[in-house]
Amino acid sequence: MKPDLEIDFDRPGPDYHRKAVKGRRELLARAVGAQQGARKILDLSAGLAQDAVFLCQMGFTVTAVERHPVIAGLLTSALQRTRRPELRERLTIREGDARDVLREPDCARDFDAAYFDPMYPLKKKSALPRKEMLLFRELVGDDADAAEVVRLALRLGPPRLAVKRPLKAPPLLEGVKHSFEGTTVRYDIYVRS
Ligand SMILES: C[S@@+](CC[C@H](N)C(=O)[O-])C[C@H]1O[C@@H](n2cnc3c(N)ncnc32)[C@H](O)[C@@H]1O
Repeated sequence: MKPDLEIDFDRPGPDYHRKAVKGRRELLARAVGAQQGARKILDLSAGLAQDAVFLCQMGFTVTAVERHPVIAGLLTSALQRTRRPELRERLTIREGDARDVLREPDCARDFDAAYFDPMYPLKKKSALPRKEMLLFRELVGDDADAAEVVRLALRLGPPRLAVKRPLKAPPLLEGVKHSFEGTTVRYDIYVRS
C-alpha cells in the first residue's frame, strides 16, 4: 500500500526543523548570498520545501515555486495550517513553472538570489530513501529540463543563482563562479553578468 504524502511544517523532526547551528554561516545561507546581503530568495524548485523552510528559519524571505499541482497544493495547505510565524510572514508558495516566474518583468529586481535544486537520479548504492521520498520521486519525475531552467535564470533572473548538486556530479551548466562544498552536496554559484 502506498503511503500518503503529507506535508506538515509543524511536525517535529529534522525535515522542517533543521538546526541552523551556524546561523547565516550555514552553507545554504552562504550559497544564496547571506554575506553579500541577500534577503529575498526565489526558490525555483520548492519540492517538499525543506530548503525554503530552512531559509525562512534563517531569516530570509522566500517565494517557492512548484510546478507539480499535487505538491503545490500540499505546500499551500501546509502554509495555511502552520503556526510558525517565520513561515506565515516570510514564505510564499506559487504553483507554476519557475520559467514563467523568471519571465515576469520584475523578477530580476524583486529577488536578491535564485535557488535551484532539481531532482537527480538515484544512485544504485545509496541508502534506500524513505517511502515518502520514493512517492515524491514517482510523482514529480526527473526534471530533465533542469539545464534549461539554469540557462533562463542566468538570462532573466536575479543577480545570483545557487544550484544544489550531489558533491561529485558535474555542474548543470558551465560558468560556475565558485562552489560551496558540504559532505554530500555542493552549491554551484552563478553570477549574472
Ligand atoms: C529535488 S526537489 C526540491 C527539493 C526542495 N529543495 C526541498 O528542500 O524540499 C525538485 C522539485 O522541483 C520541482 N521543479 C523542477 N523544475 C521546476 C520548474 N521549472 N518549475 C517549478 N518547479 C520545478 C519539481 O517538481 C520537484 O518538486
